[in-house]
Amino acid sequence: MALITSQEMFKKALDKDYAIGAFNVNNMEIIQGIVQAAQLENAPLILQVSAGARQYARPAYLVKLVEAAIIDTGVDVCLHLDHGADFEICKDCIDGGFTSVMIDGSKLPFEENIALTKKVVDYAHPRGVVVEAELGKLAGIEDDVNVDARSATFTDPMEAKEFIERTGVDSLAVAIGTSHGAYKFKGTPYLDFERLKEIHALIPDTPLVLHGASTVIPEFVDKCNQYGGKIPGAQGVPEDMIKEATKYGVCKVNIDTDLRLAMTAEVRKFLVEHPEEFDPRKYLGPAREAIQRMVQHKIHDVLNCSGTK
Ligand code: G3H
Ligand code: 13P
Ligand code: ZN
Repeated sequence: MALITSQEMFKKALDKDYAIGAFNVNNMEIIQGIVQAAQLENAPLILQVSAGARQYARPAYLVKLVEAAIIDTGVDVCLHLDHGADFEICKDCIDGGFTSVMIDGSKLPFEENIALTKKVVDYAHPRGVVVEAELGKLAGIEDDVNVDARSATFTDPMEAKEFIERTGVDSLAVAIGTSHGAYKFKGTPYLDFERLKEIHALIPDTPLVLHGASTVIPEFVDKCNQYGGKIPGAQGVPEDMIKEATKYGVCKVNIDTDLRLAMTAEVRKFLVEHPEEFDPRKYLGPAREAIQRMVQHKIHDVLNCSGTK
């Protein structure tokens, strides 16, 4: 039982066409719910921390909570920095015990993205830490009006090949139509699978990463709205599309929004049904269980990595 890198888990996942869930964590209950699910499913696990989460919890806390979860359950965890914006935050996390970092240079020109990614790889690898980079931009639905305009920002397959060769990065996040948050598509969901296939064919040994991969599970949206929430028009990536992506090199599937919704739905329900209660354990306990059930569903029914440890 330990903090581990994603190297071995990605190798197996690439080989067997399944994916590993990379779940965003912000506090103790979220960590516990996810780790318990991985334990019950005997599944590999990536827990990821954004800059915002790190700032919210303060840097030392989430690392220590993850270490505690490992001691408590015996589950191996890859601890990953999500969307590292610069070299300094990647270095801080590498020095602070993370086993994996993402350097997100996707907003930079190609050459600058390569230079920044290479700098992080050169710092991380001698220290036994793996690196994820991103090429192409995850557009929000409001950013562009039609599929053609949207796909102009997607990952270019030939650039992806050159990027991997010149940076030596361990995994690559690709833009094929997903976006962060609860509002991913106007109308019919669309992912560019032809592009994904092309990328995978050119760099077959590189684990690919799908950001913005929450399904935005309708049950949780409905429950939030039933208990006083106002989340209209939310739409995520259908489960079938996630399954399809795992056939073409996608080994890491990033999920945050579904955790937020699962937790919030349960807290809303509890507080509406028990207006007299004010003990946080009373509503955070059920929220933790809801997260556990949701993560088990992802692992077992969507990512297909149950029992693969
Ligand atoms: O990719 C974004 C993740 O959902 C993290 O979000 O920056 O609000 O923690 P955050
Ligand atoms: P979602 O907003 O779809 O959960 O995506 C999370 C993510 O990509 C974190 O990096
Ligand atoms: Zn992301």
